[in-house]
Amino acid sequence: GTAQIGVTGLAVMGRNLARNFARHGYTVAVHNRSYARTQSLVEEHGDEGTFVPSESMADFVASLERPRKVVIMVKAGGPTDAVIDELVPLLEEGDIVVDAGNAHFPDTIRREAALKEHGLHFVGTGVSGGEEGALNGPSIMPGGTREAYESLGPILEDISAKVDGVPCATYVGSDGAGHFVKMVHNGIEYADMQLIAEAYDLLRQGLGASAAEIGEIFAQWNTGDLESFLIEITADVLKHTDADTGKAFVDIILDQAEQKGTGRWTVQNGLDLGVPITGIAEATFARALSGSVPQREAARAVLPAHAAQWEVKDRDAFIEDVRQALYASKVVAYSQGFDQIAAAATEYGWDIDRGAMARIWRGGCIIRARFLNRITEAYERAADLPLLLADEYFTDAVASGLPAWRRVVAGAAQNGVPTPAFSSSLAYYDGVRAERLPAALVQAQRDFFGAHTYKRVDREGTFHTEWSGDRTEAEA
Ligand code: 6PG
Repeated sequence: GTAQIGVTGLAVMGRNLARNFARHGYTVAVHNRSYARTQSLVEEHGDEGTFVPSESMADFVASLERPRKVVIMVKAGGPTDAVIDELVPLLEEGDIVVDAGNAHFPDTIRREAALKEHGLHFVGTGVSGGEEGALNGPSIMPGGTREAYESLGPILEDISAKVDGVPCATYVGSDGAGHFVKMVHNGIEYADMQLIAEAYDLLRQGLGASAAEIGEIFAQWNTGDLESFLIEITADVLKHTDADTGKAFVDIILDQAEQKGTGRWTVQNGLDLGVPITGIAEATFARALSGSVPQREAARAVLPAHAAQWEVKDRDAFIEDVRQALYASKVVAYSQGFDQIAAAATEYGWDIDRGAMARIWRGGCIIRARFLNRITEAYERAADLPLLLADEYFTDAVASGLPAWRRVVAGAAQNGVPTPAFSSSLAYYDGVRAERLPAALVQAQRDFFGAHTYKRVDREGTFHTEWSGDRTEAEA
């Protein structure tokens, strides 16, 4: 075989990845379950580089030079396993199978172990940036063995997005680490999107501004600390008018947010690891609430707001407050996501450089943003930083926005505007910095009704009080 890399699964993501490889001068073997798609790729884009089309999986594998590098880009779950099962008997020791779909990381851990038995490398890799990114430079988060990365990595770095000439691809960690980091990326994506949506809602309800006017505000924000892809597209969306009705586009969209599951996985894992990723969780639940149609109908009919019409006196000051509250909440959501990566690294035995993760998210991916540089710098200052918020830059950034943050959350509560992500992020901030938490009382309650024991602040040991008897304390 002569092809340097192969792609099987030529739906839009696979197709665009294959084109990206070809455009970078690689000879690309291409395969798809139905051959028509393979043919149309070569017909439409054959002039972009060198493609080697195959109708059968066997020919596809044979067309690759060794060690083979096969990228699978099919639907996560059963379809991925089906392709792996078809591939494995055709491959030889040392070949590398790359799963570039949005796999759930436990599946990646399982598949990596299974392929190792056959002497094959399995690289589960996160790929972010949607169709556009796949074609012009995604952010790439590969897991697997370092040995596999040695031959695969340079190709991935080559086709990835670049920021200041630095590739948005790097080795993440063993087995499921790449897909795990991609999962957290998506969780953060959910939080970021929800925070932006809440900021929009606050501006709309607080100012009575039009969608287009708010679009202008977001465009303005995109020139400062908040500069990011998501803020940029938000400005675009808000300024867009529906061709049919002439109304603001955002007003003709059904207000029920869907999801394909990566946010849910992130939250489930946060619960498993006991990491309070409240921003991501609230964002995921906010989507769930929006889709709770019978509940919303029942509530709309009977639940009063008992809130006044919001009267914002100083328009510019309010906009600035919302901006600062958004930035502070965003820092919290990212801090929580990076905490989750650290906890997972410990739990699953990965060695993940969090600063490098922020670096490869600066370009190509959905959460790409200027501010990720700050995260990289924070982990360069202290690789083992226990809390991103405690880095000097973020401490200052959040502290300076704190009065605004409190005003916005208080105003939202008083005026009946739901801001679950803004509010829970502030609650997290106040919780994590608290000298003492009412968790002490919870421990006492647990001991009261279930003899669940507690620890004391003044002595080592575990204790239980005889609540139903004479209330003496004994060491448990
Ligand atoms: C990316 C995205 C992508 C994800 C979509 C939709 O990084 O390119 O995260 O992988 O599938 O954002 O996700 P939901 O349908 O769950 O909103």
